[in-house]
Amino acid sequence: MDHLIINGKQTLRGEVAINGSKNAATAILPAAIMCSGICVIDNLPNVDDILSLVEAMRKIGCKCDFKDKHTLIIDPSGINTTCANHESVRKLRGSYYLVGALLGRFGKAEVTLPGGCNFGTRPIDQHEKGLEALGASVTTEHGMIKAFAEKLTGANIYLDVASVGATINIMLAASCADGLTTIENAAKEPHVVDCANFLNVMGAKIKGAGTDVIKITGVNSLHGGEYTIIPDQIECGTFMIAAAATAGEITVKNIIPKHMDSVSAKLAEMGCKVEERSDSITVTGYPNLKHVNVKTMAYPGFPTDLQPQMTALLCNVSGTSIITETVFDNRYQYITELRRLGCNVTVDGRVAIINQLEKLTGADVNATDLRAGAALIIGALCAEGTTDIGNIKYVDRGYEAIEEKLANLGADIKRVSKEE
Ligand code: EPU
Repeated sequence: MDHLIINGKQTLRGEVAINGSKNAATAILPAAIMCSGICVIDNLPNVDDILSLVEAMRKIGCKCDFKDKHTLIIDPSGINTTCANHESVRKLRGSYYLVGALLGRFGKAEVTLPGGCNFGTRPIDQHEKGLEALGASVTTEHGMIKAFAEKLTGANIYLDVASVGATINIMLAASCADGLTTIENAAKEPHVVDCANFLNVMGAKIKGAGTDVIKITGVNSLHGGEYTIIPDQIECGTFMIAAAATAGEITVKNIIPKHMDSVSAKLAEMGCKVEERSDSITVTGYPNLKHVNVKTMAYPGFPTDLQPQMTALLCNVSGTSIITETVFDNRYQYITELRRLGCNVTVDGRVAIINQLEKLTGADVNATDLRAGAALIIGALCAEGTTDIGNIKYVDRGYEAIEEKLANLGADIKRVSKEE
């Protein structure tokens, strides 16, 4: 089991290049199995969730060859089963995209229920409702989602919650359905737009992605194409928050600054200097930042995936800050671990109240999920002494070479393997 050992209180300075978006890639790779050609996907993040997804696609007969670490050539012509039931599928939250993609292409899919990070019930009723509206029969039995359709036909679908996963899954299946599908109350996250753009490169007809009404006119087939994935909004935000937390100065490069507006605004409100350029942002932190309140919301609101990192930052700021998590019902499990560093956080339902302590001190902690791991790293960077973070496998699911990137910025960090 890998651990990260961090000696805190180093000021982070320098530049860091942000990798491609994990959550966009999680949707785009399954989308590629819908085409009858070859797709070349560039700017793929080299993270464990994506490697598991590639493994899952290979297991159903889809040819996936890495041209280099960040470029994948996908040839789906050899797919020989619509049943994805391998261990690699079980690990993934995004495995549900294989349902929409296989159903859209072959009219049937059997996929293991999604795994991934545990922060609440995480239902998939909106995925099911959407696919059923297109004419599929969807059942969940023996831990598998089974979907089948003689024919998919366009429909009007109103989502009860603006779910990223349901929006993308419906877009996938509807791309090859007969006629027009309208998704109302659609999710607007950058990775929804990226997946729609990729499907359009393959010949789909999708309009309105990025707004709350998406219209998909079904086409007979999709062809291959080349596509470059957008930068990862959450990796970028994590480094911006790390600059603020260590009173450092970090330039995040290869990014889309517009995607970071909610984060830039919050850091500026705290007193950080935030300088935006066409494809980079520099964040300068200072020792006496102001406390703020944060409410997570669907895009363009403050992302839930940066809530834990923001909590870790606010533990170092004088005064009381209040975080309200509106997206997931149980996303504070990491706070027990953050408290080991001395953080003074009280949780009541979806609200966390953060009061600054005199100082944070290093301790042995464990990541409980991907972004929880990122929060512990930020806490450790601010703490006096040494922090040992276990369960780094969670962080590796979504951050590429995190310790190298942090070390290049001046962090005292190393990865060690330990016998458990
Ligand atoms: N929801 C339902 N019914 C559904 C689907 C969702 O009630 O059928 C609820 C969820 O319980 C949640 C809310 O809707 O309360 C939003 O869930 P959403 O479907 O948008 O999230 P997701 O598709 O499960 C993706 C990302 C998450 C990210 C969320 C929100 C992937 C693989 N996962 O999850 O990313 O937090 O959108 O932006 O794209 C991460 O990267 O660390 C991560 C967890």
